[in-house]
Amino acid sequence: MKGLILSGGAGTRLRPITHTSAKQLVPVANKPILYFGLEDMAEAGITEVGIIVGDTRAEIADAVGDGSRFGLKVTYIPQDAPLGLAHCVLIARDFLGDDDFVMYLGDNLLRQGIAEFVAAFEADRSHTSQDHVDDDPPSAQILLAHVHDPQRFGVAEIGDDGEVVRLVEKPVDPPSDLALVGVYLFDPSIHEAVRAIAPSPRGELEITDAIQWLIDNGRRVRHEVVDGWWIDTGKLDPLLEGNRLVLETIEPRVDGDVDEDSHLLGRVVIEAGAKIINSTVRGPAIIGERTVLRNSYIGPYTSVYYDCEVINTEIEHSIVLEQSTITDVPRLADSLIGKEAVVRRSGARPRANRLMVGDHSVIDLE
Ligand code: TTP
Repeated sequence: MKGLILSGGAGTRLRPITHTSAKQLVPVANKPILYFGLEDMAEAGITEVGIIVGDTRAEIADAVGDGSRFGLKVTYIPQDAPLGLAHCVLIARDFLGDDDFVMYLGDNLLRQGIAEFVAAFEADRSHTSQDHVDDDPPSAQILLAHVHDPQRFGVAEIGDDGEVVRLVEKPVDPPSDLALVGVYLFDPSIHEAVRAIAPSPRGELEITDAIQWLIDNGRRVRHEVVDGWWIDTGKLDPLLEGNRLVLETIEPRVDGDVDEDSHLLGRVVIEAGAKIINSTVRGPAIIGERTVLRNSYIGPYTSVYYDCEVINTEIEHSIVLEQSTITDVPRLADSLIGKEAVVRRSGARPRANRLMVGDHSVIDLE
């Protein structure tokens, strides 16, 4: 079993962050999202992983290296343009060879990891499962999650025998509430499928079309339903939600300096070299390496990455990326602040909001 992690893409829904950086490297609880997927692969016993990379190739390669830190051997597979998830399989043909593989969207977070799903597919493939002893082995396995708003997702229709019979993208009239999660398992027959399909109206080779091709050509597609949470972090609100969910699981620890005028309440991590001066941190929250908090309040569900300065400021339910400075801001919430950003109240006259805002930014003034 090999692994394929998709870490290219355009990331238009997370602009302006993605104008300069890979969305898969945005940290959740101060760990790049992509690392969660790599750790899940290693935990599932996979050692050979291909990573599809686009314009942000150098940054991803810098962060992941040869993969040995994760117990993996990583091969980078460049994609010239984001031509779709099935296109990623097409260009990974040489790397994948004739092995089964798990494909993982690099911006997804899955609470329960993938080990049990990989094991279920392998067991069914080798006919050790009790359920399908008389059937052909499955060619693919999809992961599904119950959602309240299936209209926004790829949705699966399950037949009476428990097999997947149809996949529909963003259906007006959904056949179920089961949305496709960004983790798929395939046998080599997917290579024929991705070659057979044509681009969709949005110009991409869709993985849902390739899976539908398998079904239409008599292949078995099995499914598993995830019971832990699953987040597609490609937009601001789910990203903040992913940060909230992961922060709820962190083990409190203090590796930095907290002065006697400061208070840490609840689940809080202070990383090495951080300085907390006359400030309150109410968890779940994490303060990154060498970050300085002075006369500030950090509220629940906030991650401040490394080498930041937060002075006379209150922040809550937000992610602050590395080397940013936030000064004299009375209340910042539900925000994503990019790298090396400066947010400050100048007090200059005439009173005004003076902004230098990156392309495609969104600013909500109070
Ligand atoms: P998406 O989030 O579906 O697509 P995107 O990254 O282009 O984002 P947006 O829709 O906001 O413009 O992609 C899911 C994951 O797969 C993500 O990690 C990027 C990756 N991907 C590729 O590597 N190559 C591709 O061709 C596509 C479409 C996505």
